[in-house]
Amino acid sequence: MNKIIEKAKFEHILSKDEIVQLLQDESINQELFKAADSLRKEFVGDEVHLRALIEFSNFCHCNCLYCGIRAENLCVDRYRLSSDQIIQLARQAYDFGYKTVVLQSGEDLAYKVDEMAQIISEIKKLDLALTLSIGERNFEDYKILKEAGADRFLLRIETTDKDLYMKMHPNADFENRKICLFNLKKLGYETGTGCLIGLPGQSLESLADDILFFKELDADMIGIGPLIPHPQTPLKNAENGSFELALKVMAITRLLLPDINIPATTAMETLNPNGRIMALQSGANVIMPNITAEDIRCKYEIYPNKANVNYKQLEAKLKQIGRQISSTKGYRKVRRSL
Ligand code: 5AD
Repeated sequence: MNKIIEKAKFEHILSKDEIVQLLQDESINQELFKAADSLRKEFVGDEVHLRALIEFSNFCHCNCLYCGIRAENLCVDRYRLSSDQIIQLARQAYDFGYKTVVLQSGEDLAYKVDEMAQIISEIKKLDLALTLSIGERNFEDYKILKEAGADRFLLRIETTDKDLYMKMHPNADFENRKICLFNLKKLGYETGTGCLIGLPGQSLESLADDILFFKELDADMIGIGPLIPHPQTPLKNAENGSFELALKVMAITRLLLPDINIPATTAMETLNPNGRIMALQSGANVIMPNITAEDIRCKYEIYPNKANVNYKQLEAKLKQIGRQISSTKGYRKVRRSL
């Protein structure tokens, strides 16, 4: 076995230089994917956790250069679901058998923290784990939402290259994003982060730094997706991020953080018709089906042609590869010996 892969597989530690070597070397890809798959099996098993995604508002005050729902995209038909609509969707998810709901929106300050807290405590009357993905808020807000019952929070760092971060996120504060992530950890959220693959000017060195940052944070979940340029954004002429490279960053993340939850992301499936299954066989153990109604979902276009999940088809495909849909909430099972 390649020496670096072997070291990562048994020690779960790599230097930046070793990570870059793995990212550069195309000849080790299959071996890397296989190693990540075997660690996935050993540490988190064959169950695939489904997280029902509810996109409850596409208003956003941010202007991320790559994102279709950025504030300056005036073509977006903006919507906000009411508290009752959000709770209703969560109930539907519960009735369908989902064990987790993810409430995701743009950075929309119209939902005051007390309103969010109320929505959360109402949903938490059901036997569901609840994940938030609503962007940067202050410590106090995160605390109130945690106390209302939120279990998890997703906030991708997007890139740890500060200069690139500042180019991609006008008026945003890179340090604050990191502070948010450490605050979430401190408050006891299962904390998810991740990065985009293929931002213009992004280097393999910076991707290695991203992976080391996941480890430094001791992230509980990592979502990695290739960039898919949106035609109504400043990055419209950029190239698609590389699917293979996204898969490699994901696989290395599994080697270094073997017990965490890693989704096969929608962006991967969007770029490759078999992307989800390939990701599930290269370290991933989570899928996030979108349960937002079709006529609303199409307005939440962070990138074009977002892939869907067909539940029956997914169930059959999982069976074919020896995996099952989990009937648990799928919290991170931390191995204390790590
Ligand atoms: N292509 C791929 N992923 C994107 N995201 C936003 N815009 C794009 C795009 N054009 C990702 C960001 C964000 C997540 C919700 O969607 O990483 O964190």
